[in-house]
Amino acid sequence: MHITLYHTHPSLYRDVAQLFIDSLRNNPKTVWGLATGSTPIEIYKHLVAHYQKDAFDTRFLTTFNLDEYVGLSASSDQSYAHFMSRHLWDALNLQPNQRHIPNGLASDLVSECERYETLILEHPIHIQLLGIGSNGHIAFNEPGTPFDSKTHVVTLDSKTRMDNARFFDALHSVPHQAITMGISTIMKAQKIVLVATGQNKAKAIQAMLEGPISESCPASILRNHPNLFIYLDDKAASLLNTHLLNRG
Ligand code: GLP
Repeated sequence: MHITLYHTHPSLYRDVAQLFIDSLRNNPKTVWGLATGSTPIEIYKHLVAHYQKDAFDTRFLTTFNLDEYVGLSASSDQSYAHFMSRHLWDALNLQPNQRHIPNGLASDLVSECERYETLILEHPIHIQLLGIGSNGHIAFNEPGTPFDSKTHVVTLDSKTRMDNARFFDALHSVPHQAITMGISTIMKAQKIVLVATGQNKAKAIQAMLEGPISESCPASILRNHPNLFIYLDDKAASLLNTHLLNRG
């Protein structure tokens, strides 16, 4: 596990974006695992800026997103598919067969989960980007989710719905369910990069790194991953034992 701490955000986001660029330069057929939320937005801006300067080629890139709300179409402003089109997919010229996300409108959600899980098994993820929820969730794996879970339908925690309400017109518009990669799906990625910034992540980061490895903090299992990189700002790291940390 490598933890790097930053005073300023631009260098943090630049360094994380560089990991993804490097993976694509090393292997043009690389598979990226991607995340949504506010945390990845600046990382995606760096990727787009580099792509526009011809820094890398996306023709053979494959991407998988972590999760999607149930009941929102890809064209709905709040869907994660729409978020990804707007912030990354379109700008990187990714074709529909290169970019994967669960279909939250599938008539049979269980089959959709199985389809997605199988697709990931067929295209193993080389580098997975993760944020963290303020309750320690990763993707939409809420506290209590079994560590051996695969892609599944989840009922969202009220804390998660409140945290994500800022992207909707009102709390009641936030869907109650989502499809998410499971914890075992995420743990299969060759490399995991978790990014957390801001004071409202400090407790989750402390529980993840210094609490017990327990399903009550889904992110804590990441400590068992052999190739985990954590990027934090000072606020997200403010409750940690500082001897663990390197400076970026
Ligand atoms: C959502 C996503 C997670 C993300 C979390 C934190 O719940 N499903 O993948 O990590 O939000 O988002 P933010 O980066 O906006 O704090």
